[in-house]
Amino acid sequence: MKTEQVRLKDGRPARIRLLRPKDAESVLDYINAVTAETDCLGLESGELDWPVEKERRFIKSHRKADNKLAIAAEVDGQIVGVLGFTGDEKRRMRHTGELGITVKRDFWGLGLGAAMMAYAIGWAQSSGVVRKIGLRVRIDNERAIRLYERFGFLREGTIRRQFLVAGTFHDAYLMGLKVDPLNDDSALTGRDDGS
Ligand SMILES: CC(C)(COP(=O)(O)OP(=O)(O)OC[C@H]1O[C@@H](n2cnc3c(N)ncnc32)[C@H](O)[C@@H]1OP(=O)(O)O)[C@@H](O)C(=O)NCCC(=O)NCCS
Repeated sequence: MKTEQVRLKDGRPARIRLLRPKDAESVLDYINAVTAETDCLGLESGELDWPVEKERRFIKSHRKADNKLAIAAEVDGQIVGVLGFTGDEKRRMRHTGELGITVKRDFWGLGLGAAMMAYAIGWAQSSGVVRKIGLRVRIDNERAIRLYERFGFLREGTIRRQFLVAGTFHDAYLMGLKVDPLNDDSALTGRDDGS
């Protein structure tokens, strides 16, 4: 997938691009920063302590697989947003996977979440493999839910006690988007069973 130039709502230019192995260290710094900015993520601040080499391998595996994606939003050469999609390994489920997205708090509400989501859905539609994007979101995360619903995600269920944050359990919505390939000669075909 190509790098996409976008414009923030305040007029500044930004880029949406694939993560590269050499981003590994910046991505770890980025994750440590964003996990300290919100309680809405599964990962706690300071929890991700894996080495740069492991992050490099993670990025490489996402670049290689046809059902994985790892992208960044970049402003002034800095990573200010990351989106990841990890497809299942099993043959009967490799058309599905889970998406995670974060944007640095200073950049919330400027359209980067939407820009990364549009990129990811476009990638999924032309992947020839991905037919369903799933995610879990805290039910009080209104900004994220609004973003997902804008792109057509539906609430498929509620998972009780998904998160435990500072002694309080939080429920999550399981949300999903069906993905239809852009062309009919996609390698993977399937019919819905009507349910
Ligand atoms: C969720 C997140 C990725 C959204 O990114 P973003 O760059 O702020 O998203 P955008 O600016 O593209 O759009 C956000 C949408 O929420 C809306 N919004 C803004 N403030 C809002 C609020 N207080 N309540 C509800 N919706 C709000 C925006 O108006 C926009 O919708 P619209 O374009 O239909 O108006 C970002 O806020 C974030 O990283 N949050 C912390 C991590 C997180 O919660 N990740 C998701 C875990 S499931």
